[in-house]
Amino acid sequence: MKNFININKKINSFKNKILISSDKSISIRCVLLASLAIGTSRIYNLLESEDVINSLKSIRKLGIDYKKIKNYYEIKGFGLNSYSTNKNIKINAGNSGTLARLILGLLVDSKKTVTIIGDKSLSKRDFSRITEPIKKFGVNIRSTNNNLPVKITGSNFLRPINYFEKLGSAQCKSAVMLAALKTPGITKIKAKKSRNHTELLFNYLKIPIKVLKKKSYDYIEVNGQHNYKAFKYHVPGDISSTSFFLVLTILAKKSRLIIKNVNVNDSRIGIIKILNKMNAKISLKNKKKYNGEMIADIFVKSENKLKRIICPKHLNSSAIDEFLIIFLVAAKAKGVSNFNNLSELNKKESPRLDIALKFLKMIGIKFLRNKDNIKIYGNPNLNLKGTYKVKNFRKDHRVFMMACIAALSFGGNWKINDVDSIKTSFPNFLEKIKTLGAKIS
Ligand code: S3P
Repeated sequence: MKNFININKKINSFKNKILISSDKSISIRCVLLASLAIGTSRIYNLLESEDVINSLKSIRKLGIDYKKIKNYYEIKGFGLNSYSTNKNIKINAGNSGTLARLILGLLVDSKKTVTIIGDKSLSKRDFSRITEPIKKFGVNIRSTNNNLPVKITGSNFLRPINYFEKLGSAQCKSAVMLAALKTPGITKIKAKKSRNHTELLFNYLKIPIKVLKKKSYDYIEVNGQHNYKAFKYHVPGDISSTSFFLVLTILAKKSRLIIKNVNVNDSRIGIIKILNKMNAKISLKNKKKYNGEMIADIFVKSENKLKRIICPKHLNSSAIDEFLIIFLVAAKAKGVSNFNNLSELNKKESPRLDIALKFLKMIGIKFLRNKDNIKIYGNPNLNLKGTYKVKNFRKDHRVFMMACIAALSFGGNWKINDVDSIKTSFPNFLEKIKTLGAKIS
């Protein structure tokens, strides 16, 4: 079957209001936490993407029942000892680093061995960042070359740990918090800033947790082995999926867009802060709190006087999944933009920093790289006429979507491969973008 698209025309001006697909991080966390709650949880607007479906399949492998009813999923948990792990099990996390890492935290008490596998891209990613702290709980966890498959055999004698999370990885922090949930005593975490959905969900579920926020680090304490009740949750829109529409609108001519009901947790909105520093006019309206998370409608319009940014490093973690798309704005902005300390970008579904620079080269944008720091020389007159092929990007969903936005914003004749990659996080991306008038064949 055809697995590529062609784009041969810039998008025309549009004025519209859309809903965006649900948040992936929150969806995966809701599935995992519901699987260990006491009773039947209901998750509304669960993102139906491959990463989340693989999360549902994983809990089913562990003996947890779920079903879809109308617009919600029911997940039946029986408390912290819900999982049946009396025989060896294999779990396929597909493309999802979040699922593969978080579920390891929940398997620290497995009776037999659980093997985590994943697709080609996930199998190339680093797991030492999570096997090392999980080991300290007293668990037997093995891998070859720090890659998948990872095999974990739980313990009856778990002990709480002190853990210093230095990478700014929410996946590592969350996996340790989930392991702490199953472990008697108090696990203490000092974590470099990263998204805090797990902390907020723990709070909402009344799982004993203390969080002390300092300038660069958060200090977290989880008091383990406390059961919690089943819950209801409406998953809000995903700011990372929204980011493609923000940039499409900013780079288009005379366009406006409202994206309704998006999660605007401060640990996720680096992109809004960065783009506004570049002279974009993005505003948040109808802000409300929902179970600890902030939700808002996002208003954005076109901007033809974009300026360069010296991107403050402290915004990196709250924009970690958005740099590919931010680079497109830097490519069109006046002046030289600087982005520093981006080593984590090469640890994602594909080596995103390397791929982004290859992409910028292809569209004729000058850059300088010094290790993990880059300078992008913007060209406000960027207008493409050539033929462009995008392939070999490890089927990274965000690379595919970024390339579509580049094609619709800068012009040229494009062939973009691996459409199926979008199933990971945003299955109806192309339909959504077509509602704004994009011509894609
Ligand atoms: C995620 C955390 C981030 C992010 C990923 C989702 C999460 O990864 O890149 O897409 O849901 O916790 P790291 O925690 O490894 O930075």
